[in-house]
Amino acid sequence: MKILKLLLILIILGVGGVAAVMYSGVVDVAADEPHSDFVYWLLEETRETSIKKAAHSIEVPDLSDPELLLTGGVDYEYMCSSCHLKPGQNESDMSLGLYPAPPNLAVADDSHKGHEHGDEMQSTRKNFWVIKHGIKASGMPAWGKTHSDERIWAMVAFLKRLPTLTPEQYQVLTAVD
Ligand code: HEC
Repeated sequence: MKILKLLLILIILGVGGVAAVMYSGVVDVAADEPHSDFVYWLLEETRETSIKKAAHSIEVPDLSDPELLLTGGVDYEYMCSSCHLKPGQNESDMSLGLYPAPPNLAVADDSHKGHEHGDEMQSTRKNFWVIKHGIKASGMPAWGKTHSDERIWAMVAFLKRLPTLTPEQYQVLTAVD
């Protein structure tokens, strides 16, 4: 009985605490005020674990067809580059203003690629999942609502090559004829 009472008090205190934080207005939701290190870590770990779990069984198709770079490139230029930038560009209104900031997908990032084959596959699956489903409470939209899996895989194929492209090569690949 004592334990039950203690549990009940703890639950009431917990719910009361959460409600106090919610309704006192102390949480700053401004995009120009960064999270504390702890909250940032908490959100990042939650996001990465969730994506890893959701993406791990996705089957990756053959992405070696050069045609994919052309379709994926045009889509990237029109739908993604305003936030995720392109070769020769370091910032945009979106990349500076959004929080969390959209990563610059035109530069190689070892933390996302990994060094082993397994990690490369996982990053390919992750990119597909994120493009298709988006990420809640960030600026990343779910493109799967309006685009087929084929078009999303073409963008995934393009993303693999993007960090290796010069501004000129990027322009050629993403031009609409
Ligand atoms: C309005 C801005 C915006 C647009 C447009 C946008 N994204 Fe994003 N994207 C984001 C943000 C912000 C994040 C980071 C979200 C986070 O960290 O929680 C993100 C994350 C990602 C990631 C995960 C990167 C990583 O390794 O963590 C990928 C891949 C991605 N976007 C691809 C795309 C592609 C492809 C397109 C175009 C079809 C696109 N995005 C369009 C804002 C955008």
